[in-house]
Amino acid sequence: MAMMPASLLGETRMQNVLQLLQDGEFHSGEALGRVLGVSRSAVWKRLQYLESDLGLSIFRVRGRGYRLASPLSLLDASVIAKACAVSGWVTEVLPSIDSTNAQVLRQLSAGVLAPLLVLAERQESGRGRRGRVWVSPFAENLYYSLGLRIEGGAYSLDGLSLTVGLAVLRTLRESGCAGGGLKWPNDVLVAGRKIAGVLLELAGDPAGTCQVVIGIGINVNMLPGAAVAIDQPWTSVREQTGGLVDRTSLVLRLNHWLQHYLTQHAVNGFAGLRAEWEAGHLWQGLEVTLSAGPQQVDGVVLGVDKQGALRLNVAGEECQFSGGELSLRLRNDS
Ligand code: BTN
Repeated sequence: MAMMPASLLGETRMQNVLQLLQDGEFHSGEALGRVLGVSRSAVWKRLQYLESDLGLSIFRVRGRGYRLASPLSLLDASVIAKACAVSGWVTEVLPSIDSTNAQVLRQLSAGVLAPLLVLAERQESGRGRRGRVWVSPFAENLYYSLGLRIEGGAYSLDGLSLTVGLAVLRTLRESGCAGGGLKWPNDVLVAGRKIAGVLLELAGDPAGTCQVVIGIGINVNMLPGAAVAIDQPWTSVREQTGGLVDRTSLVLRLNHWLQHYLTQHAVNGFAGLRAEWEAGHLWQGLEVTLSAGPQQVDGVVLGVDKQGALRLNVAGEECQFSGGELSLRLRNDS
């Protein structure tokens, strides 16, 4: 497990300094030294850890002190824990982890009871769909994994990942991303660019009692020009709304909509959400190419079935496709 070294962020003092600095305002060397428990002259050396390890830029101006190049919104663990306790969710908010999905799987296999929510300020090996890396810079985005116990076998997982996409879309629309929509199976796009993705992972017996980890990544405050290597067009809530987003409030909003849609899914299955999902699908009626590794199928999107499978018109015939390894692109896209 890739935890942050105790000498760095694991140290409460460093976290307290970040909490002070997150407003992007100047803070005196004396004030920071007090929080860090070091002399004024030793402050700069400590702050350089934040630059080298977390990729943050810090300005130092004689007579004024230190400030972050741009403000941050750190997760407030106590606010999140309090809100989750009302729903009986256990929470973990970590400064750094390999992957929040991996952490939930570890905790569940160590006997921690679901529902369990794990959030992190950064992921060192964030996992995307189809074996891709999910780029997860410090304190910019949301890295959110909810572990749930599912009774009734794989049948009750039908359409679950699309249901989660609906919850994410609703959260983003309520956060000011009005033009957002879905791309099968569970990407959320705004202005044709990816703003969020969902990765479900399973543990246990898919035919009986199993655990599912709902992993959600949302690009929140990351802006174009950020030094990140993402291999597809992307946008963020901040880019769409024009202001720094409070990530803790976004977590609470996502909790709310997830609970709403997961309850509907548990009661009526995906069948009851299918029409709403199709209404939010940006590629309804469009010509697409579906790929599974080297194999490709061209068709026109008809919608989804009651298990969440993609319905395509392929050469005049309706065909259904499902599976985590599939990917979809518009046919006229290069
Ligand atoms: C995708 O490729 O679209 C899915 C991305 C899912 C990323 C999230 S971030 C939180 C959770 N932890 C991970 O390692 N991955 C998911």
